[in-house]
Amino acid sequence: MKRFVDQVAVITGAASGIGEACAIRFAEEGAKIACLDVTAAANEATAVSCRNLGAETLTLHCDVTDEVSVKTAVAAVMGKWGRIDVLVASAGIYTGSMLTEVSLPQWQRTIDINLTGVFLTNQAVVPIMIEQRRGSIINLSSMAGKTSWIASAEYSASKSGVIGLTRSVAMELAPYGATANAVCPGNTLTNMVRGVADKIGRLNDMTGEEWLQMRANDCPMQRLAEPWEMAGVVAFLASNDSRYLTGQAIEVDGGMIMS
Ligand SMILES: NC(=O)c1ccc[n+]([C@@H]2O[C@H](COP(=O)([O-])OP(=O)(O)OC[C@H]3O[C@@H](n4cnc5c(N)ncnc54)[C@H](O)[C@@H]3O)[C@@H](O)[C@H]2O)c1
Repeated sequence: MKRFVDQVAVITGAASGIGEACAIRFAEEGAKIACLDVTAAANEATAVSCRNLGAETLTLHCDVTDEVSVKTAVAAVMGKWGRIDVLVASAGIYTGSMLTEVSLPQWQRTIDINLTGVFLTNQAVVPIMIEQRRGSIINLSSMAGKTSWIASAEYSASKSGVIGLTRSVAMELAPYGATANAVCPGNTLTNMVRGVADKIGRLNDMTGEEWLQMRANDCPMQRLAEPWEMAGVVAFLASNDSRYLTGQAIEVDGGMIMS
């Protein structure tokens, strides 16, 4: 299925994990892909994977916390292709720190990347989508935006913020036929989760591997997610099959919150 032929998808956090999987999914389905990330080599590697699938690509160094960087990247995409049909805001961090360990700069950094970064990228593409009278924004929130657990204070706050922000963006886009939705992944096997597994495991008197296994056991589906399973839902939210679906925060968590 090639649902995005001649469409342009801009993906932040494209160098790794869910962003990388989304870039590849949209490339498979015929889109032109702009890969935005702060990590140069891995970002270019994603672009190479997309080109190997036949996609045109643009690799852009973009720090989503920096307004000039975001505006420059969006201008580069418009300069090359003249349109933006899809924005996937996937750039994010998770420190796995207990509340009392979160310094003010660390709090600020998580909010800057996970929430302000979504604000800046959404703000940069909304006028383009209004002008086009079409477009889909998909912001990566988290299960942690709807519920929470230990060592997630600044992360949960940022991800709840993404849900509220997405709803307001959806309201502003709706009269123009464009949509904005949030995806709330459960634990997904990416660098982010692997990177904090040992630290969170220690808080629970476990190894990182034991903690990952516990998270899998806690899930009704008895396993963690793979990044491509998030990309499939993101692609649906960018497709014509979801034209009347907006302002939602969709749990893609193997039934975790439900249970
Ligand atoms: N993996 C999970 O279990 C999980 C669960 C819920 C939500 N999420 C969310 O999904 C999104 C993707 O997570 P992931 O697991 O793929 O993480 P990841 O660490 O694999 O990828 C995140 C990417 O964001 C980039 N990034 C970080 N700071 C940036 C900045 N300032 N500007 C531009 N890029 C920046 C990183 O370089 C990296 O390539 C995040 O927003 C995350 O919070 C992930």
